Amino acid sequence: MYHHGAHVIDWTPRGFDPVLWMSEKTYLDSEFAIRGGIPICWPWFGAGRDGVSSPLHGFARLAEWRLVRSHHTDDAVGATYILIDSNLDKFDSPYRLTYHVSFGTEFSATLTVRNTGSRRFTFEGALHTYLRVGDIREVTLVGLDQAVYLDRVSGHELGPHRQEGDVTITDETDRIYHSLGDIDVVDPRGGRRITVSRTGSQDAVIWNPWMEKAATMPDLGADEWTQMVCVETANVAEHAVTLAPGKEHVMGFTLKVSTLS
Ligand code: BG6
Repeated sequence: MYHHGAHVIDWTPRGFDPVLWMSEKTYLDSEFAIRGGIPICWPWFGAGRDGVSSPLHGFARLAEWRLVRSHHTDDAVGATYILIDSNLDKFDSPYRLTYHVSFGTEFSATLTVRNTGSRRFTFEGALHTYLRVGDIREVTLVGLDQAVYLDRVSGHELGPHRQEGDVTITDETDRIYHSLGDIDVVDPRGGRRITVSRTGSQDAVIWNPWMEKAATMPDLGADEWTQMVCVETANVAEHAVTLAPGKEHVMGFTLKVSTLS
């Protein structure tokens, strides 16, 4: 995990290959977001609801977080980071973010947003989890059948659309699913299933850039797009969260991995 962005880059439970994907060509420089692992997108997603917010996906993934606690038991290692009132020129309401992660036979991450100011504020957020898969072209995402989604791929109709059946990725995919339930990433080439269980999250963003877009991304190696899919725990667009002074909002997820029989 890096202090830069409180960015988790690896979780490898005993008996399995790494569950999180990291780009071989990621920048590791404080000016850039890390490509892979779990970027924290906050207080907006993409260019935000106004469509012009900068930097993309908010400033939290670029900020220097403070480690306030770490602990371990026989089964797990945990860490807690905070980010307080960073970039108030871009988000002019006092806040406190607390990010807790635990690495064990399961992985969990929880982002708590507290309004420490005297007026309400609204934010979007996403835990932008890059999952490693054997070959994206063989992967099935189970758990989104009948979910309503927005399609963010340029040139596609935004929607809303309704998902019919399980999700397979056959082209550039960038969708915001309104969904609360678990999502299973079934990966026959990798011989495993990764289960994403979310709390406090109304949206699941599913993203893979596919071949052409990946070729334009300098921090992605050739063909690396075939080994990843993002399943993001999120509250974005119409599900942006409004917090009254003194209130908190908690969003998080767990990952479990099991062998495919
Ligand atoms: C996804 C977005 O969450 O992140 C995509 O839905 C975006 O639109 C992708 O391309 C990667 O974003 P970035 O800023 O890390 O390149």
